[in-house]
Amino acid sequence: MKALVYNGPCDVQVKQVPDAKIVKPTDVLVRITTTNICGSDLHMYEGRTSMETGRILGHENLGEVIEVGNAVYRVKVGDMVCLPFNIGCGFCENCERGYSGFCLTANPGTAGAAYGFAGMGPYSGGQAELLRVPFADYNCLVLPEDAKEKENDYVMLSDILPTGYHATELAGVKPGETVVIYGAGPVGLMATMSAFIKGASQVFVVDEHKDRLALAEKLGAVGISDIGEAGVQQVLDLTDGKGTDRGCECVGYQCCDRHGKEVPNLTMNNLVKAVKPTGGIGVVGVFLPEDPGAKDDLAKEGKLAFDFGNFWFKGQKIGTGQANVKHYNRQLANLIHVGKAKPSTIISHELALDEAPKAYDKFDKREKGWTKVVLKPGK
Ligand SMILES: NC(=O)c1ccc[n+]([C@@H]2O[C@H](COP(=O)([O-])OP(=O)(O)OC[C@H]3O[C@@H](n4cnc5c(N)ncnc54)[C@H](O)[C@@H]3O)[C@@H](O)[C@H]2O)c1
Ligand SMILES: [Zn+2]
Ligand SMILES: [Zn+2]
Repeated sequence: MKALVYNGPCDVQVKQVPDAKIVKPTDVLVRITTTNICGSDLHMYEGRTSMETGRILGHENLGEVIEVGNAVYRVKVGDMVCLPFNIGCGFCENCERGYSGFCLTANPGTAGAAYGFAGMGPYSGGQAELLRVPFADYNCLVLPEDAKEKENDYVMLSDILPTGYHATELAGVKPGETVVIYGAGPVGLMATMSAFIKGASQVFVVDEHKDRLALAEKLGAVGISDIGEAGVQQVLDLTDGKGTDRGCECVGYQCCDRHGKEVPNLTMNNLVKAVKPTGGIGVVGVFLPEDPGAKDDLAKEGKLAFDFGNFWFKGQKIGTGQANVKHYNRQLANLIHVGKAKPSTIISHELALDEAPKAYDKFDKREKGWTKVVLKPGK
């Protein structure tokens, strides 16, 4: 089969590799019809993780089931399925409680497994023609009859829509509340959509990229293009000096100042300032336990100069971590099905798998207009 393989920092290539196949009786085999490039792929692409060369990337996958293992009970050949990026078993004590992003079975020794992901188990990614799906009865979201027609919407259920929603859950967004979101990448935009789904009264989105802010504004948010102190001040001014009820971090450890220099504590400390006393902060942007490639000594050890004193004095709450996609994807699929959510609005490029290396390069440089790339391995 054809697949996108990681060769090393900023080097990916589409090549022929052995076909994915069923390994365990609880697996299914999926012919991938849509697979996305994600901001999380860029951490690996840039060589900032322990990703091994030769591995297939891609954790945002949707396709048709073409073979089922002997122990698969529910999923059938011909089903169109969207796969959460996390691989869960369904029966460990974390999966049992809905924390499918912290499965204790799928990647022994670690809490959490995923397709084509550094540190998340040996599973191949889906930027390929075929994908092996473990614990398939648990992991497959079988899509309704409009699966093909709304494929570009449903594929966002694999990661960024539930992840954006997770940010608003961690922050505790309730109807009528105000929300500030740092980052207008795909995840920040999906957090914006989710905040409105939850009935937020006003959403402020902070990012330097005007094209991305324009998308946030199309979703009903107020865009703020200053990522420093002046941006925080704008949020305070727009909330009568109080700050917002809730805040979402949708950037992660590679957040930058306005000169493009990485300042890993910038978004977290700005959130402490921009969110009101007693407010909640949800952090879905990725922060790493160690980052040898960082310039800053603290960051090399995965530490932040976090403004804990102000955080404590303001009595704020914080929630972090991978999105438990499985916990939200069915309800969010219902919203797509009835036309109440249309996450495909943020797609900027729909390309063949062969074009993936070029797309990685453009998306990594945050080139104007490259917001979200969906790949079609069948074309
Ligand atoms: N928790 C999860 O389950 C989960 C799932 C998917 C993605 N992620 C993570 O979410 C983050 C965002 O993903 P994405 O696909 O939207 O990535 P992206 O890189 O496309 O978007 C990040 C955006 O943040 C902006 N930004 C940079 N510095 C900033 C600052 N100081 N203030 C405000 N904005 C700033 C950039 O301009 C960019 O538009 C990444 O860290 C990704 O790994 C987490
Ligand atoms: Zn992703
Ligand atoms: Zn589990």
